[in-house]
Amino acid sequence: MNTAKFFDQLADVFPGDPQTTDPLDARWAQIATDVAGYTGPNELAVLQAAAAAMPDDEAYLEVGTFKGRSLCAAVQDNAGKDFYAMENFLEFGMQGLQARAELEANLGKYAGQANVVLLEGDCFKLMTDRTLIDKPVGVYFYDGEHTLISHYLALAVVEPLLADEALVLIDDASWPVVQKAHRLFLAKHPGWTIERTWDAAHADDPRWSNGLHALVFRRPAGTGRALSKRDEALRLYQARIQDRVNTVAWKAVNKFPGLFRAGAKVFLSRSRAIGEDK
Ligand SMILES: C[S@@+](CC[C@H](N)C(=O)[O-])C[C@H]1O[C@@H](n2cnc3c(N)ncnc32)[C@H](O)[C@@H]1O
Repeated sequence: MNTAKFFDQLADVFPGDPQTTDPLDARWAQIATDVAGYTGPNELAVLQAAAAAMPDDEAYLEVGTFKGRSLCAAVQDNAGKDFYAMENFLEFGMQGLQARAELEANLGKYAGQANVVLLEGDCFKLMTDRTLIDKPVGVYFYDGEHTLISHYLALAVVEPLLADEALVLIDDASWPVVQKAHRLFLAKHPGWTIERTWDAAHADDPRWSNGLHALVFRRPAGTGRALSKRDEALRLYQARIQDRVNTVAWKAVNKFPGLFRAGAKVFLSRSRAIGEDK
C-alpha cells in the first residue's frame, strides 16, 4: 500500500483540513445515522478512502465490527477488494444470533457487492491463524477492546500479517490509554510511525468520535514474522485469561447495567478523558 498516495488523496475527500471540515460525500453522515455504531462520519470517509487506495492484491482487516457501521462505509465503491472483519460479539450485550443477524442485515444493505468475510471470535486468537487471510493486510482498522494491553497487542499481533508497507488506523486514539499503548509499543518495535492524529475535541465528537490516529508500518529489512517472547506471553495472557474474565464481566454487565455505568465512571474516566474532560 502506497501510504503517501493515500494521505495525498484525502485532499479529494474533504473540502479543507479533515480535522475541521465535513467530508464532501454525504454518504458517510447518512451511514452514521442509519447504522448503529461508534464511528463518526469523518472516520468513515477516511476508512473508505483507505480501502480505495489499497491495491487489489492486499486485504483490509477490521477488528471490532459491532453492527457494521465502519465496515459498511469502508466497502463503498470498493467491490472486488477483500475485507475481513473480526468480532467476538461480546461487548454491549451483543450476544449470539441476534447481534449477528443485525450486523448481517446492515451488511446486506450496504455491502452487498463486496467480498466480506466475517470471522467470529477473539481477534488475539484469530490473528495468529495464518490460514484465515490469504493476502498481506494493506489496511488495518482496530476498534476492538480498549485497554492498555489490548491496544498494545492490537499492533503487536497484527504486525506479522501486514504488507511490507501498511496503513494502520486506530479508533478512540484520543484516549490517554490508547496513546500510552502506542508509546510503549513504538519504543520497542522498529518500522512504525504515527503519521496523522485526527483527535476529538471532546468525547463523542460528531466528526471524529473519540479520535482516529493513522500509523504507518514499513517492514524493516530482515525483520521476522514471529512475535517476540514477551509479546507472545502478553498475547497468551490476553487470549487465555483476560478473555475469560471479559466474558464473565460482560455477562454481569448485561445483568446489572446500572452498576456497570457507575463502575465505569470511576474506573475508566481518567484513561478515557478527552479535552475538557481531563
Ligand atoms: C466500539 S465497537 C466497534 C464499533 C464499530 N467499528 C462501529 O463502527 O460502530 C467494539 C467491538 O469490538 C468487539 N470486540 C472487543 N474485543 C474483541 C476481541 N478481542 N475480538 C473481537 N472483537 C472484539 C466488541 O464485541 C464490539 O462489538
